[in-house]
Amino acid sequence: MRKPMIAGNWKLHKTIGEALDLASALKQETAEIDDIDIVIAPVFTSLAKVAEQLVGSNIALAGQNCHPAASGAFTGEVSPALLRDAGCRYCIVGHSERRQLFGETDAFINEKVRSLLAAGLDVIFCIGETLEEREGDQMYEVLATQVREGLRDITAAQMSQVVVAYEPVWAIGTGKTASNLQAEEAHAFVRGLLRGLYSEEVAESTRILYGGSVKPDNVDGLMAQMDVDGALVGGASLKADDFLRIIRFRR
Ligand code: G3H
Repeated sequence: MRKPMIAGNWKLHKTIGEALDLASALKQETAEIDDIDIVIAPVFTSLAKVAEQLVGSNIALAGQNCHPAASGAFTGEVSPALLRDAGCRYCIVGHSERRQLFGETDAFINEKVRSLLAAGLDVIFCIGETLEEREGDQMYEVLATQVREGLRDITAAQMSQVVVAYEPVWAIGTGKTASNLQAEEAHAFVRGLLRGLYSEEVAESTRILYGGSVKPDNVDGLMAQMDVDGALVGGASLKADDFLRIIRFRR
């Protein structure tokens, strides 16, 4: 049985004060929930303060990005060890906004995955096709390349520290959610890739989250799919009520 995970990616939103308010509301309302992994990813500048606020809660903290180097002349970057130092247990890697807006390649994403695992952080590894790729019948090829290259040299044992997030680019921030069937098809395909690359055990134990316009009114249908193990939520994670309703999904 895979433990569901609901993760909120706050992207470039919220001051430290706003982040603390939201984290505090979530902490209070999730005190009894222990059958779901709850993760939030505030901006870097809020991480350490939010980490203090989350002590004693069921909510884990994630960085939204990192640089693979441990230290050095990399102006503006943050290492896995520094994320850990700020209180993070996870880091999001390979988000389509990083791939598209910041030109991140599969090889660079793979460096980050390896560096995060070496530093003892868990990875939320994002993949997903664009609309053009889907309509051009390239979706499966794109997903296969992203998984194979992004997870290159990651061992079966290390996969217990990796969560995959399938986020079709055309569904992110657009209000166009993948249908339940589209999500299930992609997730089942990704699980099959893991089976081929690793083993039945790794395929069955790795969580695959869906991301892309997840909202209170569509989460139940998505979570009812056999291979959907959770959600990576953007916009709807910015309001306590919406995010809490998503955390309380009904299967
Ligand atoms: O990381 C989260 C995804 O990009 C989804 O964002 O829920 O606003 O579509 P969204």
